[in-house]
Amino acid sequence: MLLIREGTVVTHERIFPADVLCEDGRIIAVERTIAPPAGADVLDASLCLVLPGGIDPHTHMEMPFMGTVTSEDFFTGTRAALAGGTTTIMDFVIPVPGQSLLQAHDQWLERAAKSCCDYTFHVAVTWWDESVRHEMTALVQHKGINSFKHFMAYKGSLMADDPILLKSFEHSLSLGALPTVHAENGELVAALQKKLLARAPDDPMSHAASRPAVVEGEAAGRAIAIATLLGVPLYVVHVSCKEALGAIASAQQQGGRIFGECLPQHLLLDDSVYDQKTWDGAAAFVMSPPFRPRDHQQALWGGVTGGTLATVATDHCCFLAEQKRMGCADFTRIPNGTPGVEDRLMALWESGVNTGRLSPCAFVALTSTNAARIFNMYPQKGTIAPGSDADLVVWDPGLRKVLSKEHHHQQVDFNCFEGMAVRGAPRFTVAGGVVRFAEGIPLVQRGSGHCIHRPPWPAWWPRFQG
Ligand code: URP
Ligand code: ZN
Ligand code: ZN
Repeated sequence: MLLIREGTVVTHERIFPADVLCEDGRIIAVERTIAPPAGADVLDASLCLVLPGGIDPHTHMEMPFMGTVTSEDFFTGTRAALAGGTTTIMDFVIPVPGQSLLQAHDQWLERAAKSCCDYTFHVAVTWWDESVRHEMTALVQHKGINSFKHFMAYKGSLMADDPILLKSFEHSLSLGALPTVHAENGELVAALQKKLLARAPDDPMSHAASRPAVVEGEAAGRAIAIATLLGVPLYVVHVSCKEALGAIASAQQQGGRIFGECLPQHLLLDDSVYDQKTWDGAAAFVMSPPFRPRDHQQALWGGVTGGTLATVATDHCCFLAEQKRMGCADFTRIPNGTPGVEDRLMALWESGVNTGRLSPCAFVALTSTNAARIFNMYPQKGTIAPGSDADLVVWDPGLRKVLSKEHHHQQVDFNCFEGMAVRGAPRFTVAGGVVRFAEGIPLVQRGSGHCIHRPPWPAWWPRFQG
């Protein structure tokens, strides 16, 4: 048994003083005062907040991508997540075109077995024939999958074109599963890349120039149009620009169930990150969508505070400097991705709560509850209540830290937020009722995380527009 005493509990809807008692991986009581049961471990949370463990709905641990594999594996990545107060990650099964979805799912299950926090998967639809349709059904009915990812970019590798989107969205609707999209027009990106390769092939800035905001806005609008036509809800990952945000807001205003996700990277950093003294410095920030001019950041904050954007994820996708150098003569070969799974909560608390933009309840909604609800894990995850998983963070709003590659746990030689001073950080992270990080010390156990099965939504859900 674990008793967390004298803290202030924060859920997505209220803040109240309470003790939290955990047993066998679950929360069994949340009350003003709980006498310590005999033999229980006791954590002192006085002067601290007790938050639901973070849920990062977008990570890529040990993902084969662009001719290499992300440097963070499921063990190191979930350890870094726990260090930062995240207790569940949602990763992506990505079949290579032509590969069985079930076989790819098995591969990812095997890789993820070393995780030290809970994990669950979205499965990407990267190609189409009747076997894909059948395997989507099997994944939903037997494997606990309720979301399918579609890359509208990465032409020639993972890209799903309109006919695939149409068939996969339609089938998702019939299964009670939620389609998600990486919204960038892959055809336009490929055309712009060709032009820029002739002009500035070794400049990482060419990466950003080949993926302007209009490319993202167009794809977001197209995916939303297809979803709206079919009456299926849609989740748009890593929204980075005004154009995509506008498409989501306008669909929501017309009653569409369109969910938007954004990243602290795009909220906090602009495209000046590509003006670095060294090639390595700029290449480290190569990700898709790229960093945008500053006015987009302002709009994204409006989306977060106003509710158009429902979640703050990381798209944690680590490559070492030596891996990024694969693209030193050809910017299209720089592996796309940046880290953040450990920094997400601290960066968002500092820039959101400490600035007065977000209440602590809104912070919890954006970092945990909304993902649990959208992906059907609530109230097992995403809240603090009897019966919920005992995934908790003892958060000290006065604790000061500096985010840096020098001491982060992420398995990568780079930190997007290098040198950022934050006030507000985890003192203890509890996963499944066990303290897994205490005052910066890892107490993790390889393989202690569980795969979370997410049931499909009932057939009526897509038509429920409330
Ligand atoms: O640059 C990124 N975002 N890399 C990871 C793959 C993806 O597109 O999400
Ligand atoms: Zn993406
Ligand atoms: Zn991603």
